[in-house]
Amino acid sequence: MQALILAGGKGTRLRPLTVYTPKPIVPIANRPLLFYQIDLLRNAGITDITLSLSYQPDKIEQILGNGSELGVRLRYITEPSPMGTAGAYRFAADVANDTALVLNGDILTDLDLKKIIEFHRSRKADATIALMTVEDPTHYGLVQVNDDGRVISFVEKPSEKEAAALANTINAGIYVLEPSILDLVAKDTYKSFEYHIFPDILERDLPFYGYVMMGEYWLDIGTPESYLKAHIDLLSGKIGGQTLAEKPDHDAATHAEIDRRSVVGEGCTIKPGARIINSVIGPGAHVEEKALVEDSVIWSHTRIASYAEVRSSVIGRSCHVGRNVI
Ligand code: GDD
Ligand code: MG
Repeated sequence: MQALILAGGKGTRLRPLTVYTPKPIVPIANRPLLFYQIDLLRNAGITDITLSLSYQPDKIEQILGNGSELGVRLRYITEPSPMGTAGAYRFAADVANDTALVLNGDILTDLDLKKIIEFHRSRKADATIALMTVEDPTHYGLVQVNDDGRVISFVEKPSEKEAAALANTINAGIYVLEPSILDLVAKDTYKSFEYHIFPDILERDLPFYGYVMMGEYWLDIGTPESYLKAHIDLLSGKIGGQTLAEKPDHDAATHAEIDRRSVVGEGCTIKPGARIINSVIGPGAHVEEKALVEDSVIWSHTRIASYAEVRSSVIGRSCHVGRNVI
């Protein structure tokens, strides 16, 4: 089976972090977000992966290369202009000649993909989507299933009124699709799974199922708030299968305090009296005397000057937080 990762979005809501760093490679605990998805696919035995790109594709390709370091084979397809989620799948048509696993490129999850694939096969489905329960479904695709797990309605970005009338199960952005779905997507046009293809599948009454996730971790990294939340969750061990890398080489003064949860990148300098608590510090960053970084994410080569205090914040690359600033 092949996989397609939809990674062409502009990441607008995550600006300014995504101005120079496309969302698929924003660092999560100092590793590009797509690495986590690639781990997930490889753990399910899927090593043929196509990345569907549109925004800043060269940067992504530069970082991920041919995938050999991650134990997979990566292929890149860049749309001339964004073709929508389903248009991108159509554009990568030879991936879809077989059963395909399609992933939104901005989700962090520990779902065992083998489970949804098995579920899909056992139902002889044409399309299966993973479902997650959330408190406020208005930012997602709201999905209703019947007792057999068959999808009976799909409403993308429902209004509050629509959401109130239905259960809070949403599209988690993980699909198993048979090649028959490809025929539903017109060539060379903008098409969205969420607005066009899923409603069309329902209309045609094709076997369309929802696999409800149970207790697995899942998060859409779409906003600065969720980006920070992903880190806090990761540091507290809430995301299964993720053992954070050993602390690499950095220069920490003996009188600096780095708690056990924090991750400090390579080549960082942590000065005496500095405190790093429940945070991720990017490579080459400097945290100076008596500065505090707590519940925060600091990108590479940023300097936190002495006595500054950074709490529950995300600071981008090569920034300078001045002395005494809180
Ligand atoms: N190649 C390509 N081309 N990729 C695209 C395009 C495109 O034109 N448009 C979006 N994508 C990619 C994005 O990069 C992202 O990884 C994924 O498709 C989803 O797009 P988002 O813009 O992040 O959508 P969303 O978060 O508002 O909603 C989607 O995800 C929710 C779950 O996180 C929908 O699928 C919802 O139904 C779902 O609940
Ligand atoms: Mg999203």
